Amino acid sequence: MDVNFINFQSHGDQRGSLVSIERNKNIPFDVRRIYYIFDTKSGVHRGFHAHKKLKQIAVVLKGSCRFILDNGSEKVDLLLDSAEKGLLIESFIWREMYQFSEDCILLVIADSEYDEDDYIRNYDEFKSAVLSNI
Ligand code: TYD
Repeated sequence: MDVNFINFQSHGDQRGSLVSIERNKNIPFDVRRIYYIFDTKSGVHRGFHAHKKLKQIAVVLKGSCRFILDNGSEKVDLLLDSAEKGLLIESFIWREMYQFSEDCILLVIADSEYDEDDYIRNYDEFKSAVLSNI
């Protein structure tokens, strides 16, 4: 399956690095929410859901973690370990995050506010939703 990474330009100099993220400029949507996942305990797996509408971009600001993305017929398993690389996650993609490094800070940028009704948290339901969407 296609995986869309966004390479963020890093404004680096002798002092260090800076990345700027602007709506509709270097990310393809209007930002309505950001959240971050940190202090994740060893061996934890998170996610296990898809969204009906929501689009998100995940960026590891520190450390690393792995993402499994599943479009209902194919799966990819990706390592996120760069603050200069955003992973675009479209709607109707089942995701699982795991193997968080102890220092991992995972930033997520979303195009909508939190809405539990937008979640599909049951895998079988996700599969049927994908099939009926094709
Ligand atoms: P959860 O969906 O379990 O996180 P993950 O998909 O990473 O495993 O979310 C954990 C809790 O945080 C849950 O009670 C819902 C809440 N939450 C919000 O209130 N706002 C948000 O934007 C998000 C993503 C979660």
